[in-house]
Amino acid sequence: MKALLLAGGNGSRLFPVTLGVSKQLLPVYDKPMVYYPLSVLMLAGIREVLLISTTEDISQYQRLLGDGSQWGIMLQYKVQSQPKGVAEAFLLGEDFIGEDPVCLILGDNIFYGIDFSVQLEAVVDRTKLGQKGTIFGYTVKDPQRYGVIEFDEQGKTLSIEEKPEQPKSNQAVVGLYFYPNEVVSVAKQTTPSDRGELEITAVNEHFLKAGKLEVETLGRGFAWLDTGTHESLLEAGQFIETIEKRQGIKIGCLEEVAYQKGYSSKEQLLKQAQKLKGTSYGDYLIQRYSH
Ligand code: TTP
Repeated sequence: MKALLLAGGNGSRLFPVTLGVSKQLLPVYDKPMVYYPLSVLMLAGIREVLLISTTEDISQYQRLLGDGSQWGIMLQYKVQSQPKGVAEAFLLGEDFIGEDPVCLILGDNIFYGIDFSVQLEAVVDRTKLGQKGTIFGYTVKDPQRYGVIEFDEQGKTLSIEEKPEQPKSNQAVVGLYFYPNEVVSVAKQTTPSDRGELEITAVNEHFLKAGKLEVETLGRGFAWLDTGTHESLLEAGQFIETIEKRQGIKIGCLEEVAYQKGYSSKEQLLKQAQKLKGTSYGDYLIQRYSH
C-alpha cells in the first residue's frame, strides 16, 4: 500500500499567516503539523509516501523530512502547481502508485484515539485484499463545512454530499481515505466541480454507487481535529498540549512511532533525538529510550 500526503492548497482561511509559509508546516504545539498525518500513515503500516505540495513550498518539506530514512520510511515529493482539488493527488501520484492500492491523507488533519492503529491496519489489510474503498465519518456540529454522509435507518450509506447547505446528517467525511488501485482511473474520469476543483467527494460517490465503499465511523472517544482556521489551529495545539502534559506521552512523535513499529532501531531514534537535545521533543525521546 502506498500513501499520498497532501500538503499544498492555499491556506486562505489562515491569511496572513500562510502568505509566507505553508499551512502544514505551522506548529501544532511542539511539532510541525505535517508530523501528525505522517505518523498516522506510519501507524497504519504504510512506509512509502508521496508528499504533494506547491511549487514554492515543496523544498521546505524536503528540508524538514528528507527521504524518510531516519524513520525507516521512503518519502518522495511531487509538485501540485495549482490547488486544483484533493482528487488531483491521484493523477499527480499515478506513477508513484503504480499497481498498488493507495491511501490519501490531508496534511491538515489530526487524528487521536484509542486503538486507531489497530483499526487502520485492519482497513489496510481489507483494502489490499478487496476492491473496496474505505472512508471514515465523524460527528461534527458544523457538517456544512465538509463532505456529509447520509445513512438510512439500518446504517447503510445512501449519499455523500460536498458542503451541502442542508446537511442530511452531522456525519462529516474525515481527511483519510483508502482505495483500491482503480481510484486512479476513477479520478481521471472526474470533472471539476462548480468551484473548479477535482473533488474527493466525486470519487467517493463513484465508489458508493458501484457498491464499493465502506464507511466506518470514528466514535465519541475519538478526536478528529482540523486546523484550517485560526481558532481550530489554536485549539488543536491546546488539545495536544493538554494530553501530552497530562499523560507524559507525545502524539505524532515520528521517531517514537518508527521505533515502536520496528521501522528504525533504538540507535537511530537516539541519534535523531540528540539533534533535538534541549527541547521538550528531544529530551522526551532521550529520557524515555536511552536505557
Ligand atoms: P482545504 O482546507 O480544503 O484548502 P486549503 O488548505 O487550501 O485552505 P483554505 O480553504 O483556507 O484556502 O484543503 C484540505 C487539505 O488538502 C489541506 O491540507 C491542503 C490540501 N490541498 C492540497 O494539497 N491541494 C489542493 O488542491 C487542495 C484543494 C487542498
